[in-house]
Amino acid sequence: MGSSKKTSFCLVGQFLGYELKGHEIHRVHLRCGQEEYSLKVNSDVRSFLVRAYLEKKLKAGDWLEVVGVKKDCAKKGIKFKAHSLSYAKRPKDCPKTFVSPSTSTTRVLVCQKSSCCKRGGKAVMKQLQKVVGDRHLDGQVSIKGTGCMGKCSKGPVMVIDKTHYRQVDAGKVSRLIDNHVNA
Ligand code: FES
Repeated sequence: MGSSKKTSFCLVGQFLGYELKGHEIHRVHLRCGQEEYSLKVNSDVRSFLVRAYLEKKLKAGDWLEVVGVKKDCAKKGIKFKAHSLSYAKRPKDCPKTFVSPSTSTTRVLVCQKSSCCKRGGKAVMKQLQKVVGDRHLDGQVSIKGTGCMGKCSKGPVMVIDKTHYRQVDAGKVSRLIDNHVNA
């Protein structure tokens, strides 16, 4: 068995975005100085992020304080798990922002309920995560899987900001993202 050491950590940094697994928030991405961290979240942090998303309170570049446990494993490297998260002030010794202040978050919702999934909703979500990851848009695009949006026969349904798309083809996701992010 590989040896591993656990210590607590506290990071203050800027919110870059989050990562989904299925339709749950799985990781939060944070920039501290020149370093970027990908932190696994527990249920408390997940609830905080979902609430912040619904209330439209959290945007890329906002300062957060994250407390959790860091596991240093000889085999797997360093893993972070966030146990609590709160809004923070920019530390005095940090430049005003590392993320362009004009950067706004494009919100993408993808229905992950059965009718849409039968019509390709999972493939749409997968392709969306790939496009966002490949283009390093995590700080600019937030992704959320949702429940039924009431347009089941026209699925898969996707909403980008306030624009609704129906019968979305996974192959067209990239172009749809371009239309909004580069607009
Ligand atoms: S299942 Fe997707 S809109 Fe109803």
